[in-house]
Amino acid sequence: MNLSSIKRSLSEGISRLIFIEPSILSADLLRLGEEAKEAEEAKADGLQIDIMDGQFVPNITFGPDLVRALRKVVKLKLDVHLMINEPEHLLVPFADAGADRIIIHQEACMHFYRVLQSIKALKIEAGVALNPGTPPEAIEEVLDLVDFVQVMTVSPGFGGQRFITSQLDNVKRIRQLLAEHNLKVPIAVDGGIRVDTAPLAVAAGATVLVAGSSVFNDTGSVAENMAALRASITKSQGGT
Ligand code: DX5
Repeated sequence: MNLSSIKRSLSEGISRLIFIEPSILSADLLRLGEEAKEAEEAKADGLQIDIMDGQFVPNITFGPDLVRALRKVVKLKLDVHLMINEPEHLLVPFADAGADRIIIHQEACMHFYRVLQSIKALKIEAGVALNPGTPPEAIEEVLDLVDFVQVMTVSPGFGGQRFITSQLDNVKRIRQLLAEHNLKVPIAVDGGIRVDTAPLAVAAGATVLVAGSSVFNDTGSVAENMAALRASITKSQGGT
């Protein structure tokens, strides 16, 4: 949690600190460094880097070298979302490249607990992501290792998809599970986050919003789009 997020949220009257992490899948890849800097200047709370292998999800994106390149141009927290099968084979390269957090999918791991232990052993944060259709109980047995939970509100692979509203029940259930285990772990929502869906995710208990195409697009600048998302949350919480 950085000071500017706290000041911003207090000034906007947001009752709960809400963090926005742009995901780079929808960024202009020919201007990625500049767009990452624009996100930093717009006070993004991190940058989510969507890593896809064409197996676990039907798309192929980036590798550790992109994380290394982004590490050189922004100070933002780099959140590496591994949408890949057998993520255990690539933890060290992404950690060495500068990942601050690695998010893996329960659905992609044969030995889920061991993979999370391996991430923690690298002295970076361990996140878990759940696809639509995977029950929150699937992560209950590993919650003691988890620093971050991400609920997918789209079937992962592409930006610009429709928000799957039914997954909000999973956000609520995960919030309940964390409370039962007396754990204070951020809950992120990823997929279809826009000005109309962001308040729904926050109301369900999300404190981190991962947004791709609503931040990186041709209709507005990164700063304008981030401000619109923040305004939608503030308004929904009765702030000015
Ligand atoms: C799954 C990715 C998401 C995606 C979000 O596709 O993990 O982060 O980039 O994109 P939007 O916000 O456009 O749904």
